[in-house]
Amino acid sequence: MAKHSVVTMPGDGIGNQVLPEALRVLRAVGFDADYIHADIGWECWRNEGNALPQRTIDLLARHKLGLFGAITSKPNKEAQAELKPGLQDKGLVYYSPIVTMRQKFNLDICMRPCIGFTGNPLNYIRKRVDDDYDEPQIDTTVFRQNTEGMYAGIEWTNPPENVRAALNSHPKFKAFAHVPGPDIAVSVRIITRPAARRIVSAAFDYAKKRGFKGVTICEKPNVVRETSGMMEETAKEVAKNYPGITLWSTNIDAQLMWLNKNPEDYNVIVASNLFGDILSDAFAGLVGGLGFAASGNIGDEVAVFEPTHGSAPKYAELNPPIVNPIAMILSAVMMLEHVGENEKAKRIRDAISAVVKEGKVRTYDMMRIAGGAKSISQGAASTIQMTDAILARLN
Ligand code: NAI
Ligand code: MG
Repeated sequence: MAKHSVVTMPGDGIGNQVLPEALRVLRAVGFDADYIHADIGWECWRNEGNALPQRTIDLLARHKLGLFGAITSKPNKEAQAELKPGLQDKGLVYYSPIVTMRQKFNLDICMRPCIGFTGNPLNYIRKRVDDDYDEPQIDTTVFRQNTEGMYAGIEWTNPPENVRAALNSHPKFKAFAHVPGPDIAVSVRIITRPAARRIVSAAFDYAKKRGFKGVTICEKPNVVRETSGMMEETAKEVAKNYPGITLWSTNIDAQLMWLNKNPEDYNVIVASNLFGDILSDAFAGLVGGLGFAASGNIGDEVAVFEPTHGSAPKYAELNPPIVNPIAMILSAVMMLEHVGENEKAKRIRDAISAVVKEGKVRTYDMMRIAGGAKSISQGAASTIQMTDAILARLN
């Protein structure tokens, strides 16, 4: 029996192109694992009315470790129309399987590293006063609370009477009291202290491990007093347990401005769900975008690693495939680090660094050309060629 077992969920579209590439790399470094395929995504929805079948949940519960590609999701009407005939009028509702997975296994810590590779033509550069350019080394990891906040899904258009009554009890609701129900939409932002403590602690633990001097809590406590307030207050408490690490506090709006000015100043940022989602995409854009953005969804028992990108349907049928497998491979690297296989993780990271630095093999996104069947004839590497290049540089 292998030392580890990993549930592999390629899902839809390019998930099926990039996940096998990550497995090639994991095998090449000698990661001792069994891989167990599990179904997830649009085909499951169409044929079974459930994008995350129970058998996949059972496999994750048993093996605790997952690698996930991407899924396709579509608006409700289209989702209904694509259900197979026997399922059409059963009142089934589409739920995002990745959101469901995060909630089912309480994968409440989302870790999104945005670390620039030297030589990546997509890296952020900054004009200097002498008209020359700086390319600061960006090494930012965003810790995003993954299960609460604005994405908890507690929301209504035309809130029911008892909810409306509760809202009416708040003095500030007077301003909305005259608005008819169908014209009011309400999303509830819930923050709980234990979850806040967990995400902030994860950020501090990581800062400690990497030897960083500070952690930034990015919220908006001056305006969103209760929820952002609790995040910040909790961060201050947690910070006391990490004497050598300073807690900085920024507001989400100002932070987005600063990431355009001095992104290299931020190594670890922690935020609630929506703000963390925004921050991680914004930082990812500075280090190469979707082709480089990896993430981990980490709970107490189960952890699932995935690229940030989706299923990119417009490229899913191309043969050879053209999308960048690096985000998926980096997700596998995060998985290795999670299970303590740091030496293997480092070998893969070094190989990716070498390929990017050399600059000979680049997928279309790294060439800043349009993606499509023509990209290959324009000199772009295919998905497979990129992985081959990484494999060739593995020490
Ligand atoms: P997307 O991330 O699938 O693609 C957006 C664009 O980014 C692509 O058209 C392509 O130009 C580029 N891109 C994405 N991955 C790339 C890669 N590895 N290499 C090079 N370029 C890459 O987002 P989009 O188009 O908004 O959504 C497509 C589908 O994916 C939708 O059904 C959406 O719901 C789903 N989705 C799923 C996610 C997940 O599985 N976690 C996340 C985001 C979207
Ligand atoms: Mg996002």
